[in-house]
Formats: sequence, structure tokens, C-alpha cells
Amino acid sequence: MKTVQASAPGKLMLFGEHAVVYGHPCIVTAVDQRVYVTVQKSENATFSVDAPDLKVESYVKPLNILGTGDIPKSVVFLERCYVRFLEKYPQTGGIQVSTKSDFSAKFGFGSSSAVTVAFAKALSTLYGIPLENKQLFALCYQAVLDVQGVGSGFDIASAIWGGTIYYVKPAKIVEILTEKPLPLVVGYTGIKADTATIVKQVEMKKNADEEHVENIFQDIEKLVDIARKEIEQERWDIVGTLMNENEELLEKLGVNTPELDLMIHSARKHAALGAKLSGAGGGDCMIALTQSNTKKKVDDALMQTCAGTIPITTSAPGVRLEKEVELRT
Ligand code: PMV
Repeated sequence: MKTVQASAPGKLMLFGEHAVVYGHPCIVTAVDQRVYVTVQKSENATFSVDAPDLKVESYVKPLNILGTGDIPKSVVFLERCYVRFLEKYPQTGGIQVSTKSDFSAKFGFGSSSAVTVAFAKALSTLYGIPLENKQLFALCYQAVLDVQGVGSGFDIASAIWGGTIYYVKPAKIVEILTEKPLPLVVGYTGIKADTATIVKQVEMKKNADEEHVENIFQDIEKLVDIARKEIEQERWDIVGTLMNENEELLEKLGVNTPELDLMIHSARKHAALGAKLSGAGGGDCMIALTQSNTKKKVDDALMQTCAGTIPITTSAPGVRLEKEVELRT
């Protein structure tokens, strides 16, 4: 009996959130906190999951009703991914899945997409179906859209390719800008944001005033295209200024919160080169770009604000196989 373990990283949006949903580019970096998924075939025709981090123990579903009924939030991405996988690559017998995470789902680091990507990679290895990054992306994006209905797939691309990437949906462009860590500090507001709700709010705003919101997206795209080059050149002072400008445009979209604002201003006051919210807004995390000699100062200041900082390293490696073990039965 073979056991396979794969892992995928979480992510942080650097530039271009919201606009990316409408076909504009964004820049996202993978973080060194990972989700691990272990799979093993089972003789029973069932899909079973153990995810102690998510308080799921012995979730078991017969394969003939897979993907139907009320699926708990904690296993829905895995279950939908398996449905999609079996549609494309039919198998006999069941599967046992277990997951473990380096980070809490509440930070908005993209645990759902990371778990989906790690699972898809583990499945393809277990069944001996090699999948290229683009095929892995198509499978995972489909599964995530089945669950969420919305999303640009930037988080899936980040979990697959890793590094810091320039992305246009649906993986139409994926360009690695750097695999070196960026001088970034991450502040956590302590408030869990609901990405799908905020994406819908922006959509409503766009429907109400198409031209105004599209102009904001165009301005965001310009920033993203400049940032792409400046990140490659490691001109951090310019990247910091671009982050501040991106934040102003996000404020115009109405996705900022008082907590995010407090942390962003505190970072800037303590010599950050730039600071902005990261992701949908409405809570979760902000990011501050620093120089190596001011990183501690910014970190110390943010540690005193809202829920403090989360230590991470950026440009982490993308999805990878961790273990492939043949067990004697
Ligand atoms: O809230 P997060 O970190 O999942 O980021 C959402 C980013 C959006 O652009 C608002 C949505 C998306 O799917 O791209």
C-alpha cells in the first residue's frame, strides 16, 4: 500500500487585488507556511478525511454520493477536488486523506487553495498520472470555483508555482518575478474577512458605476505593470511607493477597514517604504515593505497594533512532493 504526501504554500497578495478578478494582472508571493496532505488508497468505496487542525476526525462519505448533500466547510475543497479528479481520471476503490497545516485558516493566507493544490498533487502521484502545472491549475481552479463561485485563481497559481509571480487569470500569464524573499512585514488585524462577500460588494459597486470602477482597475493595472519591473530590479523604495498608491485605489473601492488603516499608518510612521492591505480587504492582513535595517522597527510597531505581526518569509517554493512510501501490508 502506497502513501503519498504533498505540500503547498500559503500566499500573500502584493498588488492588484480585485482588479485581477476582472482580467487585470496581479502580483502574489508564496509564503513559507505550508499545508500538507497525505493520501492512501483504501479498499472501501469511501472518501475519508482526518484533519485534526480543522477539528475533522474520521469524516467518511461513500463514493456513490460524493459531492452531494451538505458538505462541511472544512472538507468541501478536498471533496470537490476529488469529484473533479475522478471525472477526469476515473479510479476504482476509495481513498483516505489526512491534512495538517503550518498556519491557521483565519489569517487569509489561502489555506483552501493550498489544501486543494497539495491534494491534487498527492492524488496525481498516488495514481501515477503526472500533471503539469497548467493541468494541476485547471483541476484545482475548477474545484475552487465549484465551492466559491468567484475568484481569480491567483491563490491557486501561487500555491502551484511558488515564488513571487505576475498573474493574469485563469493562469493565462504566470511569470516568476523572483524566487528571493522580499523585505516584508505582515500585520494581522485579528478580524476574519469573508472574501466572497467583499468580491460581491465590489461587483455591486462596479454594476452601479461601471466607468468609475473600471478606471480604478486600469490605474491598478498600470501600478502592477510598473511594480513587476521594479520588483525584478529590487528597487524597494519605488515598490514601497507603488504599494501606497495601490492602497489609495483600494480605499476608493471601499474595501479598507479602520483596523487595516491603523496598521498601515503605523507602519508608514515607523519608516516602512510602503504599506497596504493584502487580499480582499475587510480584515485579514496588511503588508509593509521595509529596508533590512528598518524591518525590526516596523515589526515592533505593528506588534503593538491590533493582533500583531505574523513572521513569514516570502517567495517560498510552490507545490512539492514530500514523501512517497510503499508500505508492506
Ligand atoms: O482575501 P484573499 O487573500 O483571498 O484575496 C482575495 C483577492 C481578490 O482579488 C479580491 C479575489 C480574487 O480571487 O482574486
